[in-house]
Amino acid sequence: MSLLERFLSIGIVRKAIWRLWYPFLTRRLRGEEVLFLNYAFETEPPAGLPLSPEDEPNRACIQLYHHVASQVDLRGKDVLEVSCGHGGGASWIVRTMQPASYTGLDLNPAGIRFCEQRHQVAGLTFLQGDAQKLPFPDGSFDAVINVEASHCYPDFPRFLAEVARVLRRGGHFLYADFRFSDLFAEWDAAIAAAPMAIVQSRDIGAEVLRGMDRNAARSMALVRERLPGFLHSLGADFAGLPGSRVYVALQTGELRYSSWCFRIS
Ligand SMILES: C[S@@+](CC[C@H](N)C(=O)[O-])C[C@H]1O[C@@H](n2cnc3c(N)ncnc32)[C@H](O)[C@@H]1O
Repeated sequence: MSLLERFLSIGIVRKAIWRLWYPFLTRRLRGEEVLFLNYAFETEPPAGLPLSPEDEPNRACIQLYHHVASQVDLRGKDVLEVSCGHGGGASWIVRTMQPASYTGLDLNPAGIRFCEQRHQVAGLTFLQGDAQKLPFPDGSFDAVINVEASHCYPDFPRFLAEVARVLRRGGHFLYADFRFSDLFAEWDAAIAAAPMAIVQSRDIGAEVLRGMDRNAARSMALVRERLPGFLHSLGADFAGLPGSRVYVALQTGELRYSSWCFRIS
């Protein structure tokens, strides 16, 4: 590991970078309908998830939310989404899966302001907050959803403990994310030690690669039009453009993308 990589892997440094990056991104994307910040998901053959015309442009990103959230029936449940980003997943789940309530939380204050203006849906509220210090009493939710965000948290085990704390008995944690190979062992150990039982887990790397392919043209246009030149390579990674470091790492197994359903007893 280079000195720079070692510096970037320090928890507090990583946290500071993500804290700056996402508000910056929200500002740069102003005026665009960028409701999702994930790498997307597509099965082979495509599952043909029915979507309304307004959701169709976001099909591949919605499919990742569908894959994660449909692991349990959310009807009538109180749901928390940690790291809701620009709120596209939260809005789609509330409109299609009928939870009793849905709270979207994110560290990015600009993102939360965007969500409050863009997604006015009955039963859906947004809140600024930290995944590692959830601002809710014990046993507040029936399900917690977390999509492609935990790689940003400096202390992943602490996040898992917080999820277990805010879940009611019998509640579920619906989770998907990626790690590079240098963090496989640490990630696996944290998952194995989580204070919740694993109901199911899946490697979804192939589906995420197809999702990246599906979104490639739009992602490339956004990177070129919205980011300054010196950030194009970082933007290509962030958007998962074919040929980017992240895309190639997923192809070669240097990066793993997985999903889980946990249950707390
Ligand atoms: C790749 S985006 C995914 C957003 C959303 N889940 C989606 O799929 O569109 C990661 C998100 O994690 C949020 N995040 C990073 N660190 C966080 C923290 N400590 N607590 C809460 N959210 C955090 C970022 O602000 C960003 O919105």
